[in-house]
Amino acid sequence: MAVQIKSKAEIELMREAGRILAITHEELRKRVHPGMSTWDVNRIGEEIIRSFGCIPSFLNYNGYPASICVSINEEVVHGIPDRHRIIQEDDIVSLDAGVIYKGYHSDAARTLMMPAVSEEVRKLVEVTKQSFFEGIKQAVPGNRIGDISKAIQDYVEGFGYSVVRDLVGHGVGSKLHEDPEVPNFDTGKRGMKLRPGMTIAVEPMINLGTYEVFWEDDDWTVVTDDELPSAHYENTILITDGEPEILSRAPGIEL
Ligand code: MF3
Ligand code: CO
Repeated sequence: MAVQIKSKAEIELMREAGRILAITHEELRKRVHPGMSTWDVNRIGEEIIRSFGCIPSFLNYNGYPASICVSINEEVVHGIPDRHRIIQEDDIVSLDAGVIYKGYHSDAARTLMMPAVSEEVRKLVEVTKQSFFEGIKQAVPGNRIGDISKAIQDYVEGFGYSVVRDLVGHGVGSKLHEDPEVPNFDTGKRGMKLRPGMTIAVEPMINLGTYEVFWEDDDWTVVTDDELPSAHYENTILITDGEPEILSRAPGIEL
């Protein structure tokens, strides 16, 4: 389907979805701690989303059985919450969540660091977050999707990290996944021209070692081939006449 340019009214709904999602992530950041099961993370996240009268976008999406994707260490994305999976002191915990407000989606991910995360892995998490900001510096009208992709890749490869190839960012709006695809690496194509009113989810998934990944037997959990850690950071953004606007944010809350 063709890329949609959102109306003012649609953008307003996406802002509200994004604000609620940012608050959800902030609340999870405060409440997720070692000793907790990934199922409890999901339960708390879903409660927060529903407390705003919103629907968790991921629940039952293509059969995904939870509201929050919880992916630990070598798990890249789409980890399935599990009562028996307990968060450890030295884990990184990637949380990906989506909110539907009055029919409009926002999608965002954060990687949380438990207290005893090594310096090496801390750096991976910081660089992954910064790569999002490097990418969206290119998210201005007249540039192309591929300019975002290349900026992310150049930045992270400068640290010796690798960019996951098998999963990409995407348009977002009245559906969780819309056109265009937003790769985090140079595909050899410059991609679509960016225009004001486009809303996209930019979501670098960055590995400490190889970029190769595989799918676990649950058909969801994506894991690095070499079982080295991976970090994820994502926001929903709006292309404007100037700088992009991050929609999955809220006043006074850390991005
Ligand atoms: N947040 C993921 C994305 O960015 C979607 C999760 S798929 C789900 O595309 F099935 F887990 F919901
Ligand atoms: Co996404």
